[in-house]
Amino acid sequence: MNPWSDAIEARRRELGSSLTIMGHHYQADEVIRHADLRGDTLQLARQALDVDSGHIVFCGVYFMAESVALLARPGQTVHLPEPSAECSMALMSTAPAVERVLERLEARGRKVTPLVYGNSTLGLKALAGARGGAVCTSANALPMLRWALEQSDAVLFLPDRNLGWNTADALGLPLAERALIRPRGDGPEEAENARLLLWPGFCSIHTRFTTRQIDRLRAEHPGALVAVHPECTPEVVAAADAVGSTSFLIRYAAEAPAGSTCVLGTEINLVERLAAEHRDRLTVLPLVESACTHMAQTTEERLAACLEAAAGGGDGFAVRISEENREQARSALERMFQTAG
Ligand code: 13P
Ligand code: SF4
Repeated sequence: MNPWSDAIEARRRELGSSLTIMGHHYQADEVIRHADLRGDTLQLARQALDVDSGHIVFCGVYFMAESVALLARPGQTVHLPEPSAECSMALMSTAPAVERVLERLEARGRKVTPLVYGNSTLGLKALAGARGGAVCTSANALPMLRWALEQSDAVLFLPDRNLGWNTADALGLPLAERALIRPRGDGPEEAENARLLLWPGFCSIHTRFTTRQIDRLRAEHPGALVAVHPECTPEVVAAADAVGSTSFLIRYAAEAPAGSTCVLGTEINLVERLAAEHRDRLTVLPLVESACTHMAQTTEERLAACLEAAAGGGDGFAVRISEENREQARSALERMFQTAG
């Protein structure tokens, strides 16, 4: 134990059943060990619907805590221990820029449905809600994209081009029906007719993985099983044995045959935790060490400070939802739960 850990546990006892600590799987061990509930983005949003406590302290990045705050009941406060911990991909598309692109795309009479990855701003979720679109996460991108393609002439998937492309591959959508759009200026020409339009955002942690790393690991560990997150590039996904969300990768390691070597292309905290959990049964290796610095901003020290503020009745760490966006953003999340929750 260390002083922060002691302080966290003391505040937890003080707050009792009025406190629930939630944590994403990418959090460091020192933080996640304090969580009452842990999960990937979709699981945490789902779990939040059943939380009764007045305080929810969310260990993760801003957009995740914001979604939980959107779903929170009246009287519940969602706190984020490090309010500046924002996923860089979530900031790669803004609602006004997307609005301009949609206007341009729809100028010729086509209807375009926005499908917004959870890793996005509140404004973007509200835009999706207002235009009949929805939110998705990496765990339900496939059924959500299938649904979105049935809603109108085309889907604008954003911000992650790789998740969009990889999901289209899984769905068998022909290459000719996809186009990467240019947020500024016109074109490309293909965007005029494509059914799937992709915003050019990406995750800087998952795009560090390369096919050369996969080749090297396969050479060093013949027979190794390689599984990666769908935020990786399509080339990396094609070279892997399996692709799937955080919860999929956890299941993949749990179900890997005893004695096998399992190589995971995702955030290092999760990979190291799975390696320790399955140490007696199999070898789990990272494709390469890739840490999310945004997730790492939440430390035990920040968690202790956040709990102290909550226990003192302060709301300095509270996540605030603008009234302007609340209803529409919530409707985009609810559409996700109704379709593929
Ligand atoms: P999950 O949807 O798998 O939780 O992933 C979120 C994320 O940020 C991955 O980088
Ligand atoms: Fe965002 Fe990538 Fe970090 Fe996930 S791993 S929170 S997508 S920057």
